[in-house]
Amino acid sequence: MDSRIRTYQIAADYIRQQIGGATPLAGIVLGSGLGRLADRIEDPIVIPYKSIPGFPVSTAVGHKGNFIIGRLAGREVMAMQGRFHYYEGYPMELVTIGVRTMAMLGIRYLFVSNAAGAANPDFHIGDLVVIRDHISLFPNPLIGPNMDDLGPRFLDMTCAYDLELQQLAENCAARMGIQLQKGVYFGSTGPTYETPAEVRFYRQIGADLLGMSTIPEVIVARHCGMRVFGMSVVTNCANTDNTPLALNDGDDVVRQADAAAERMTTLFSNMIESL
Ligand code: HPA
Repeated sequence: MDSRIRTYQIAADYIRQQIGGATPLAGIVLGSGLGRLADRIEDPIVIPYKSIPGFPVSTAVGHKGNFIIGRLAGREVMAMQGRFHYYEGYPMELVTIGVRTMAMLGIRYLFVSNAAGAANPDFHIGDLVVIRDHISLFPNPLIGPNMDDLGPRFLDMTCAYDLELQQLAENCAARMGIQLQKGVYFGSTGPTYETPAEVRFYRQIGADLLGMSTIPEVIVARHCGMRVFGMSVVTNCANTDNTPLALNDGDDVVRQADAAAERMTTLFSNMIESL
């Protein structure tokens, strides 16, 4: 057996021992400042990443490092409160270890969220944006010998973001009176934010959202056949000229994400209830 798969299995076995019983239906990755969804999970079992064999410790601002397993809207879910970013220095195998462990546990749906900057001038701070596609500047997490037991060597990415889940999001949002935007997520490694010239360039090639996460997780989730729903919370509008006033800062990102987290939580709950 591939030693990487063995690592994921050992982590999954450890978690299974802690939670016993039912396999969660959906995994949820919570982005910067979006961790409060975890507070709505009933009868939570908290498993710190640092207690799980093979897992690293998450260090980013606004991020905790726990799996939270319990019920959301009556369904069993498993949330990642905090993720591993490439800019923290982790290799791609560790950036994606949480998602692969969830897949090993038998989880079929992945809801990924992030705080993102808006490159689309029609987007505003606090907007919820359904990710309909992405452009990646990350090294591909599937580089290296393929894990044939998980998925194919050459992975189709035409519908990486599940079309039915996007429709479900629109239906739920309409019912709840929540406004949604749709867009293309452009992911780069960070940790620097984009220069204004880069923002203009990325906008020209189709970026609506700018971020430093999510894409590696989505690729490995698709590789092991999970159905993916992605959502960004707009925490800032990216600078397109060299004025010093609209500089990004980490605290502001966390504050804005907090305000929108409540609406995103309600939307995710409604969607998961309907799965
Ligand atoms: N760029 C990249 N990542 C981000 C941003 C941004 O403007 N805002 C929040 N995460």
